[in-house]
Amino acid sequence: MDHPVQTELCKAHTLEELIRILHQLFAGDKVNVDEVQTLMESYESNPEEWSQYAQFDQFRYTRNLVDKGNGKFNLMILCWGEGHGSSIHDHTDSHCFMKILQGNLKETLFEWPDKKAVGEMQKKSERVLKENRCAYINDTIGLHRVENPSHTETAVSLHLYSPPFASCNTFDQRTGHKQKVKMTFFSQFGERTPYTTSISQENN
Ligand code: SIN
Repeated sequence: MDHPVQTELCKAHTLEELIRILHQLFAGDKVNVDEVQTLMESYESNPEEWSQYAQFDQFRYTRNLVDKGNGKFNLMILCWGEGHGSSIHDHTDSHCFMKILQGNLKETLFEWPDKKAVGEMQKKSERVLKENRCAYINDTIGLHRVENPSHTETAVSLHLYSPPFASCNTFDQRTGHKQKVKMTFFSQFGERTPYTTSISQENN
C-alpha cells in the first residue's frame, strides 16, 4: 500500500527528520523523484548532524553508510578529499540522488558508449553543484563522473540509491570499455569497516 505524504510538509529541518521522511516517501512501491529531490534540497546542511559519519581517506573518496532505508534505499555520506573523483559509472538501474553537504562537486555527464565501436566517450554536459543542491541521475539519463574540483577544500555529499545496489559498471573514458566493480563502505553507522575501496578514478 502506498503511504501518501503531503508535499507541503516535506521540509526537513534536521538530518534525523530527513531520514524519517525519506522512510515515509519510500514506504510504497513508487518513487516520486521530484518529491525526494525537493525534500533533500530542503535540508540545510548542518555539519554537527552529519560529522559523525564523515570519515576521510588520504587517497580516495570514501563511502560511509548512514541508513539502510528498510531495504528500500541506502543513504550514505561520501567524503571527497582535495581533487578526489569517481570513475565514470552507471547506477545499476537505480535512482541516484546526490546532495551537497559541504564544498562543491563537479558532475560530468556522458552518453552510454556505443556497444559496437571502441573510442572516446561522448560528454553530454558538466556542472558544478554547490552546497545544499541535490542532483538526480538514473541510467536512462546517462553515466556520470563526480569530482571535487578544489585542490584546497574538501567536499561532502549525501547520496541516496534506491533500490540499493552493491556493484556497478565503471567505464574507461578513452575506449568506453566497461568493468563491473563491487562497491563497499569505508564506514557503516559511524564505525570504520576495514579493507574497503570506492569507485576511484585509479581503477581505470
Ligand atoms: C558518484 O556518484 O560519483 C559516487 C559513486 C558512489 O556511490 O561511490
